[in-house]
Amino acid sequence: MQPDDFRNILSRLVTGVTVLAANDPRGGARGLTVSAVTALSLEPPLVLVCVDRASATHDCIERAGAFAVSFLGAADEALARRFAEDPSEARFEGVGVRPEVTGAPVLDAAIGWVDCRVWASYAGGDHTIFVGEVLAGGADVGDPLVHFRGRYGRLAP
Ligand SMILES: Cc1cc2nc3c(=O)[nH]c(=O)nc-3n(C[C@H](O)[C@H](O)[C@H](O)COP(=O)(O)O)c2cc1C
Repeated sequence: MQPDDFRNILSRLVTGVTVLAANDPRGGARGLTVSAVTALSLEPPLVLVCVDRASATHDCIERAGAFAVSFLGAADEALARRFAEDPSEARFEGVGVRPEVTGAPVLDAAIGWVDCRVWASYAGGDHTIFVGEVLAGGADVGDPLVHFRGRYGRLAP
């Protein structure tokens, strides 16, 4: 199957939108917009995320051994675009973040978040599947930002 066909088909699977972030051992933090986030296990509490091996954040997750996932709200399309499109080193400028348990940055705007220690990682084609043990998390009010057929949207009221 051609990559464009694959993308076109998978774009029909509606997803939530998150910012996955890790500290950069050389200083600062790196993050990217990620829709490939799945709840994996209840006991222990595990999630999995799929990260392109070419991503600048990928090596930071490996080296820091930790990452945070911030679930974006319906009003935060601009954050989704920023973390997918802006130069990697400028993405956190002016964005409210805080460290939780692992020290990885959690976005203040998140409607939900998990802070994870890397529990396992597996090769998955050109991506790596990072399994994170959830050490802390939080839930806030707010409707989710969703992604479908290449467009951002919100749930119908
Ligand atoms: C809605 C949306 C979902 C995305 N989901 C993923 C994903 O699950 N995994 C991934 O590696 N990249 C994903 N991306 C692409 C990255 O956000 C994008 O390539 C980013 O620029 C990578 O940044 P970096 O290379 O500086 O780390 C997604 C992009 C968008 C817009």
